[in-house]
Amino acid sequence: TGGIDRYEMTQRATTAEILPGVKTPLWTYEGTFPGPTIEARRGRPVTVTHRNKLPVPAVVHLHGGRTPAASDGYPTDLILPDGWPDAARRAQGGHGGHGGHAMSGMHDPRAVVTRLTRDYTFPMDQRSALLWYHDHRMDFTAPAIWRGLAGLQIVRDDDEDALGLPAGRRELPLMITDRAFAADGTLTYPALDPDLREQPGVQEPYLAGVLGDVILVNGAPWPVHEVDAARYRLRVLNASNARHYELEAVTGDGRRLDLVQIGADQGLLAAPVTHPRLPIAPAERYDVVIDFSDVPVGGRVTLVNRLGSGRTRDVMAFRVARKAADDSRVPRVLANDLPAWRRSDAARVRDISFRAGRMHGGHGWLIDGKPFDPARTDVTTRLGDVEIWRLVADVHHPVHLHLVGFRVLSRGGRPPLAHDAGLKDTVSLRPGESVEIITRFDGYRGRYLFHCHNAEHEDMGMMANLEII
Ligand code: C2O
Ligand code: CU
Ligand code: CU
Repeated sequence: TGGIDRYEMTQRATTAEILPGVKTPLWTYEGTFPGPTIEARRGRPVTVTHRNKLPVPAVVHLHGGRTPAASDGYPTDLILPDGWPDAARRAQGGHGGHGGHAMSGMHDPRAVVTRLTRDYTFPMDQRSALLWYHDHRMDFTAPAIWRGLAGLQIVRDDDEDALGLPAGRRELPLMITDRAFAADGTLTYPALDPDLREQPGVQEPYLAGVLGDVILVNGAPWPVHEVDAARYRLRVLNASNARHYELEAVTGDGRRLDLVQIGADQGLLAAPVTHPRLPIAPAERYDVVIDFSDVPVGGRVTLVNRLGSGRTRDVMAFRVARKAADDSRVPRVLANDLPAWRRSDAARVRDISFRAGRMHGGHGWLIDGKPFDPARTDVTTRLGDVEIWRLVADVHHPVHLHLVGFRVLSRGGRPPLAHDAGLKDTVSLRPGESVEIITRFDGYRGRYLFHCHNAEHEDMGMMANLEII
């Protein structure tokens, strides 16, 4: 087809009525939370020009993107705000004009690269999948996402279109998040609350990450969505900072509907997998078909979070509004392009630990005993090498690798679980568990990241550099 799809996005502060009757100040892409959904075609590059009108520097990362390092949103590769003091810009080398030009300091790993606007180019040379973009500034990712800096990017291709899966109105991307609100509608972010911070020891509870008691789906609290009595494709993303969910679909009369998983973080599975319930850690995506055809008109199906209680128990609901024809299908074979790396393909095996520890005199979250340092290379690998990583955790850590998709080889010394199927870019390590993943580091050379996607853990040090040479 050729050509490049171009988008422009302005990042700015605004307010929105999320809870009835009160205005919530947000940081947004283009004034909405979530930001605009970018629809992309496999093999057709997307360029997004971001302009920063926020009061703070910004970094954009496309999570799940096979993206050259220069557009991957390195945490110190900043877009300065409009009107940011000139002195700061001069101190960064006098650059900061329009465009995505290479900066003088760009190849110095310690350099802070800054611009006023920034072109991010995504080749989209990757499997069809639900990706998401979000802020990734060093030490400030969690509060930035919390304030609204997240949006979806969907990659499609002809093979997937030809499968006959539920589509159009019957395909629903669901970005699930939790947030906490003050009475006046302001988002509260307890870890940054200055009153709390002054009190010794009070920050410690947030070591686990920040949780809210309001569940938002696509930015709306506990929505009720009208559906036909037909199959729907739910493309679920857990965009919460720290909350884990275990989703179950329950009808008004207490029946559980199957969740037929057709895809993982990095696109379609080889074949569907049926789950009674589905755990979903921060940043994971599950592509699921649910069939409402047995639910009577007027009936309700609630998406329940079995790990929640009280206000966090329900996520959203579907109200079956009408009978309707349904010519969608869930084929027995969904994809035949899944990489089948074997243990014997691996050039090396690495052990990598994710554990709490001391950092800058306080508590932090460490990878192999070290907090994130942009000046240090933690893992160096060769383009094209297959590696096995043995990840081990103290508490729950959803571990994410940039650039590559991987397969789960084992969990706790046993075969992977049913929901570990397919190609993933985030894997949930449960407390005390060790998980083996296998991947090929292909695509691009350069400096990438891997980190815990509990966003507070990430900001508290649990991130590391991956250099592909
Ligand atoms: Cu979704 Cu490095 O992150
Ligand atoms: Cu990512
Ligand atoms: Cu973690």
